[in-house]
Amino acid sequence: MVFLNPMLKGKKIVVGITGSIAAYKAVLLVRELVKAGAEVKVIMTPAACDFVTPLTLSTLSQQPVLSRMFDEQSWSNHVMLGRWADLMLIAPASCNTIAKMAGGNCDNLLLAVYLSATCPVAIAPAMDEDMWLHPSTHANLDRLTTYGNHILPVGKGALASGLHGEGRMAEPEQIIDWLQGYFSLPGPLTGKKVLVTAGPTYEPIDPVRFIGNHSSGKMGIALAEALLKKGAVVTLVAGPVAALPELKGIAIRKVTTAAEMYTECMALFPETDIAIMAAAVADYTPEHIAAEKIKKGAEGLTLNLKKTTDILKAMGESKTAGQIVVGFALETTAEEQHAKEKLEKKKADLIVLNSLRDAGAGFGKDTNKITIYARDGRQYPFEVKSKSAVANDIVETIIRLYYA
Ligand code: CTP
Repeated sequence: MVFLNPMLKGKKIVVGITGSIAAYKAVLLVRELVKAGAEVKVIMTPAACDFVTPLTLSTLSQQPVLSRMFDEQSWSNHVMLGRWADLMLIAPASCNTIAKMAGGNCDNLLLAVYLSATCPVAIAPAMDEDMWLHPSTHANLDRLTTYGNHILPVGKGALASGLHGEGRMAEPEQIIDWLQGYFSLPGPLTGKKVLVTAGPTYEPIDPVRFIGNHSSGKMGIALAEALLKKGAVVTLVAGPVAALPELKGIAIRKVTTAAEMYTECMALFPETDIAIMAAAVADYTPEHIAAEKIKKGAEGLTLNLKKTTDILKAMGESKTAGQIVVGFALETTAEEQHAKEKLEKKKADLIVLNSLRDAGAGFGKDTNKITIYARDGRQYPFEVKSKSAVANDIVETIIRLYYA
């Protein structure tokens, strides 16, 4: 066994226990985590309390166990717990809890902590083989994977039903091994600070109207997730996107206008190793914002617009040795020529081109087709792929060119 583990010393771990016979293994797991020097806080679902007692776990973790949703202490702390932790580990995760997590359900404290957690989340499923093999279980686990959650493998052996098969929760020592790997394995971008912009900006005309665009933010969000998985410390500066999915471990700064995005980005840039500008920033903004709603009057209305500051260009011009700046170009004609011009004009290291003429590329779509242009003249074309696969291609190209 690998229990006395320096990698776990001082690590803050929230252990979530759900209603499964494997809860008895969580007792051993908590004991070993504490022995390894981790700080452990336990949350139990009401069903978990039918299998093991909160008293056992509070004794072993040396901390109060949280279980009831509306206890004064639990309720006010549920957001803080997921921020306090370096990792939330749900072990055992029953089929029911997995389904609720995938659906964003929030009917107990464990789910409330899960939904509000900003730390990474690992899940150790436990269930009978037939439940494990059911397509809905795998659809739910796939969905949790896309949210950035880590799914630990299940074991094979005797099951609570008396049958023999797959679905046993991983053994405590296997989970400890996994945690050791998780906390010690450096990714190629470990410790690198990355700034990603995403989404549109809204430029106000009057208190009720704005100039915006159709950017969904999906590409920037997929990039932030891909970078996080490579060990980077990621900050996402997001314009008004419809929905930010679960971005465990990614710092999010919400902005509305191009000017706000500029201020936020330039404040972060001096500490940034890699900046990836995936946002569709407005190029022009109204010269004046009307204090009151503009009333209908004459047949025509003219708005005077002024240029916004080009954030990518400002970064390209001020970057120091070692900083990498990546821009996007969405074009409809003379794509290659425009991409190369942007590379020069904005002093970017890479430009990711996508053309609206390519089927599968563009705003709001789940797929994209890109070519990456580098300053040294090299080009890297890719096929149409999902935005998360495209994000991986971009991140892998950055690693290959600058961090291999
Ligand atoms: N960009 C930026 N700040 C702006 C405008 C654009 O950082 N104010 C960034 C985008 O995030 C993107 C890249 O610049 O990475 C390309 O933006 P685009 O608007 O296409 O480029 P322009 O130079 O404005 O060219 P044009 O609109 O004429 O195509």
